[in-house]
Order: sequence, then structure tokens, then C-alpha cells
Amino acid sequence: MSRPKVLVTRRIPSNGLERLEPHAELFVWDGEMPLGRAELLSRIVGCDGLLSMPTDRVDAELLDTAGGQLRVISNFAVGYNNIDLEAVRQHGIPVGNTPDVLTDATADVAVLLLLAAARRAKEATEQVRTGEWKTWEPTGLLGADLVGRTLGIVGMGRIGAATAKRLVAGWGMRLLYTARSPKPDIDRELQGTRVDFEELLAASDFVSIHTDLNPATERLIDAAALGQMKSTAVLVNTSRGGVVDQEALVEALRGGVIRAAGLDVTTPEPLPADHPLVGLPNCFLLPHIGSATDRSRAAMAEIAADNVIAGLQGRPLRCQVS
Ligand code: GLV
Repeated sequence: MSRPKVLVTRRIPSNGLERLEPHAELFVWDGEMPLGRAELLSRIVGCDGLLSMPTDRVDAELLDTAGGQLRVISNFAVGYNNIDLEAVRQHGIPVGNTPDVLTDATADVAVLLLLAAARRAKEATEQVRTGEWKTWEPTGLLGADLVGRTLGIVGMGRIGAATAKRLVAGWGMRLLYTARSPKPDIDRELQGTRVDFEELLAASDFVSIHTDLNPATERLIDAAALGQMKSTAVLVNTSRGGVVDQEALVEALRGGVIRAAGLDVTTPEPLPADHPLVGLPNCFLLPHIGSATDRSRAAMAEIAADNVIAGLQGRPLRCQVS
């Protein structure tokens, strides 16, 4: 009997591929860039499994093109907004993701962005690089303090909680958060208070976004939301670029509606080099590296491989989202 065929759309850490190899014939796309759409559609034909990246759009067209053989989709990410879950459900195909193992790494990046934006790291490094920095200055590059300030976590899930833990324990921040349901553990352990979105915006010195991207959260941070924030506030986003209305953010950063932003995610990724956010001194940008540590990516590879193997064998996935 022929071995199941699995399309792996980018080279993942080798432990994941080694785990998969005994179970399937792999096609691993080795390019520097993701597979183009036409190439992805042609490669998926006749595959039994798909190990996809957040950069791959998995939709009805792809599923129809794949043919009836596709039995599992394993996304190499915790987020799965690149996958049309309704279309996948109609095809009866299980979808897996890689939660938990990237929580700490991503929370670290949220803190990195928060500190960098608060302390004007982009302007500061630019001054060093260009030689504009001449001497220690008593009033130069003054930034925002963190200790004792109010942190607003939008979306108190795993990564939101890990970010809050760091900032409450390390910097004594007061914690406000939004969540779909009460979080008694957070209230008890971090003295957090669940509030509505408007209250969080108005009262927070730092607003960190940790919600997933879905129709309800798309452009949640729009001009109105930015206008409700303190003019001294810092916005941090490690979730998905689509949660922020970037045109409104540009205006807010230019006009002093808020102090600064730190973003690991944007729309599109990367932003064009001439995009205003790239040039703004008070917008600190990273290239979507939330989960990019040795340990997190190896653990993601292991889970993503296990999800594929389980799907091929008709078992529930190790981490199944649908
Ligand atoms: C990366 O962005 C992820 O969702 O894991």
C-alpha cells in the first residue's frame, strides 16, 4: 500500500520532520518564501495531510482542489485565522494548532515591545547608528516609567496571562483585562480586575493585545478606541495585525493621540518599506517573532507533526481546534 502523502509548506525544525518521516511521504517546500498560491494549489492535489503555516490561506478553493483524500490540516502556529474553519468543517477535516509551547516566548516579546516603545528604543538606537547622539543628556530621550502603572490586557488567554504575570510580578503594575468570562485565578493571583473594553482603554497606561483575530476583533483598535486611550499610553500588539486599524494608528502616533506603539504583527507582513509605521520614530516594529525561540519552535514542530500523524491514523489530534 502506498504511504500517505503530506505537504509541509515550509521547512520546520528537523525534530518535526523526523517524527513525521516514518508515517508519510513528505513533500517539504524548501523555498525562502512561502509557496505561491498556484504552487500551493498544485502541490495539495492528492495529499492526505497538510502541515501549513500562518502565511498559507486554507480555504474552500484549496480544499476543493485537494480532492477527497485530505484527512488532516495541522497549522504550525497557535493562531489559525488563515484557515476558513467553516469550509474545513464542511469537508469534515480536523484542524490542529500548536498552543502552550509558545506562550512564554510570545509573552517575552510583548514585554520587549512594551519596554522598547516606552523607552524610545527605536529613536535611541537610530541616534547611536547615525552619530546623532553626541553626549549624555539630562533631558534627552525621556520615556515612560513602568513601575506601578496600569496594564490593560485585551484578551486574557494564555499569552495575555503570561504577559500580565511578568509585568505585575516584575514591575508591580496594576492589572485590568477584558475576557469573555471571569478569570478568578487572575483576579486572585495577579489582583486583576475584569473590565469592559472602554474602561480598559481609558484607564490603562499600557494596552497589550492578546485576542485572536476574528470578525468581532478585526480593527478593534480603531480611531475611536485610540481616541479613548490616554495620550501618554503605549499600545502593544503580539496577536494579529488585523486587530489594529493601521491607518488610524498612524494618525494617532503622528498626532500625539497616544505616546507610542510596539508591534510584532502588521497587515501585511512585512509592511512595505515606505509604510508610515516603518518610518515613525514612536512605532517599534518586529518581524513577527513572538514564538521564534529554539525551544518554542522545536516544541511546535513536535506538536504539529503529532497532529498530522493522529489525523492520518484517524485519531483525535493532540491539539485540535476543530
Ligand atoms: C504565530 O503567530 C502563531 O499564531 O503561533
